[in-house]
Amino acid sequence: MVVMELHDKNIHPSIEHTHSVAGDVIIEFEDFSYSYFESGQDDQNGQYGVDALRNINLQISRGNCVVLMGYNGSGKTTLLKAINGLIFASAGTYKFNDQIVDSKSMKDQIFAKALHSKIGYVFQDSDSSLFCSSVEEEIAFGPAQMGLGVEDIKKRVEDMCKLFEIEHLKSRAPYHLSGGEKKKVAIACALSINPDVLCFDEPLNGLDIKTRDKLMQVLRDLKEAGKTLIIATHDQSLADELADFFVYMGAHHKYSDKPHTHINMQIGTNNT
Ligand SMILES: Nc1ncnc2c1ncn2[C@@H]1O[C@H](COP(=O)(O)OP(=O)(O)O)[C@@H](O)[C@H]1O
Ligand SMILES: [Mg+2]
Repeated sequence: MVVMELHDKNIHPSIEHTHSVAGDVIIEFEDFSYSYFESGQDDQNGQYGVDALRNINLQISRGNCVVLMGYNGSGKTTLLKAINGLIFASAGTYKFNDQIVDSKSMKDQIFAKALHSKIGYVFQDSDSSLFCSSVEEEIAFGPAQMGLGVEDIKKRVEDMCKLFEIEHLKSRAPYHLSGGEKKKVAIACALSINPDVLCFDEPLNGLDIKTRDKLMQVLRDLKEAGKTLIIATHDQSLADELADFFVYMGAHHKYSDKPHTHINMQIGTNNT
């Protein structure tokens, strides 16, 4: 189960009893804040900050399926980036497996590589994660980075291509594929390293029904296999079926009978 710290402002009265359930905490944010800096406006450096996450306190336990929901701009993608060590705290801390992930620890290549082999990330925009000249190379990249042997890499590529029925795309250039095909390749890449934690940003967007069903089955299987899943989605049926725990972000106020919390409440917008 997810273990939550109780912060009155974040907990809906109906679940005041909710907290702290046993589990091995794998992800922990403590008073974590993050601002993007954009140029063009005034501070001393000619920049101004866009607050994206403010005072996040959140713990996620191993094996949980956590669904992030919130309006556009409420910080879901930014939180996933932070979990993956792609951005670092402006204030507060983020720990993965009890180890602080920050710009300093991520400069250590062994640490960074270990983190990236334990967490897979399927971006909302598949183009951001595809850069090889063929699908086969793309899927092989992660396992090769992890130091697997040629035969093991080949096997992983074959398994992933079979799972997502993309054998016929193996020699194609990822940037020429359709949006849905790219998404399947991006998911295959994330799974090919067999990470403990998998983060999905709007995974069902742009998929046809058959591929959605396939992906739902993959998510069920991953959950069954005990993987920690963190999924940002607007899809209520995915959320209802898979979530052990909801994290509602920003101004989004949905109350669920399932365990849930509200974070980043000062930031959210009313966009949908
Ligand atoms: N690269 C960026 N530069 C500046 N601001 C950004 C950037 N990415 C996101 N933001 C801002 O951060 C906030 C949170 O965005 P995001 O995490 O993408 O939200 P969500 O995924 O919930 O739609 C928004 O105000 C957004 O405009
Ligand atoms: Mg997003």
